[in-house]
Amino acid sequence: MSDLIFITGATGNVGAEIVRQLSEGDHHVRVAQRNLKPSSNWSPSLTVEYVNFDFQQPQTFAKAFQGVKRVFLMRPPALSQVKTYMYPAIDSAIASGVEQIVFLSVLGAESNPIIPHAKVEKYIQSVGIPYTFLRASFFMQNLSTTHRQDIQERNEIFLPAGKGKTSFIDVRDIAAVAVKALTESGHSDRAYSLTGSEALDYYQVAEIFTEVLIQPVLYKNPSILKFAISMYKRGLEPQFIAVMIGIYTTAKLGLAGKLTTDTQEILQRAPISMRQFVEDYRDCWGVKPTS
Ligand SMILES: NC(=O)c1ccc[n+]([C@@H]2O[C@H](COP(=O)([O-])OP(=O)(O)OC[C@H]3O[C@@H](n4cnc5c(N)ncnc54)[C@H](OP(=O)(O)O)[C@@H]3O)[C@@H](O)[C@H]2O)c1
Repeated sequence: MSDLIFITGATGNVGAEIVRQLSEGDHHVRVAQRNLKPSSNWSPSLTVEYVNFDFQQPQTFAKAFQGVKRVFLMRPPALSQVKTYMYPAIDSAIASGVEQIVFLSVLGAESNPIIPHAKVEKYIQSVGIPYTFLRASFFMQNLSTTHRQDIQERNEIFLPAGKGKTSFIDVRDIAAVAVKALTESGHSDRAYSLTGSEALDYYQVAEIFTEVLIQPVLYKNPSILKFAISMYKRGLEPQFIAVMIGIYTTAKLGLAGKLTTDTQEILQRAPISMRQFVEDYRDCWGVKPTS
């Protein structure tokens, strides 16, 4: 049996996909759950261990990391105080003998020291544990989660990114890179900038949706104020709205379109395209999959 691998954020976009991909191979996997509450993400036939793990409850750390060799670490979006919630978990992992941390970071973290991910990267480097940083671009899956309802019910993509381009990546590709980093040698002390192979603006994204779903999907490009009010009325937390505005303003300013070849080089294949993503997820927007 291979080394024990521990997955945090295992019910989230990337973590759940890592677990799914690891469970297809002969791997020894432990997944983090909060209060061991049942999660709809898991099939009962999945051969993984479950452990209670909560960044806000340090008493859960030691048992979760016991016997673990490699960790997939992510920062829950709501936890911006990384010194309080992430550093103690990293310390505990090291004290338990963990030999490598694969951390889900964000594209450009190396040149943006104030973001929480950059602080976590710096801390991991400072404590000297072998690491792999996955600096991921904007997830395609934001369109099947955060923006799903707009697309399904109003046939529109409603966000303030102007004509700026984004180098979207599919979380299945991020997970595939994570699986390699967690199960192969040669990824220690490396930082990968993970993007798809095309940078698209949201007019182009809407065009792809229109073609694949065979129904018109329009890109609405609201002002930041209109977007903020609309999100607030939908009940989104002001902190989350501020983060979204920051992300879409970055795109609007033309700073989210950087393309790299890391994904392609590590996976030895082209990254999943936006068109493929929409095809694969079409039932998310209420459109039946093609046979
Ligand atoms: N969205 C993007 O485009 C994008 C791009 C680059 C990087 N990122 C980064 O990716 C990360 C988010 O990853 P994701 O989208 O895969 O996750 P996600 O879907 O947002 O899910 C959050 C995960 O964190 C877990 N969690 C929440 N609070 C926790 C706590 N106190 N202790 C332990 N676990 C907790 C949740 O578990 P429960 O089920 O128990 O709630 C869930 O598994 C963020 O750091 C974000 O900045 C996002």
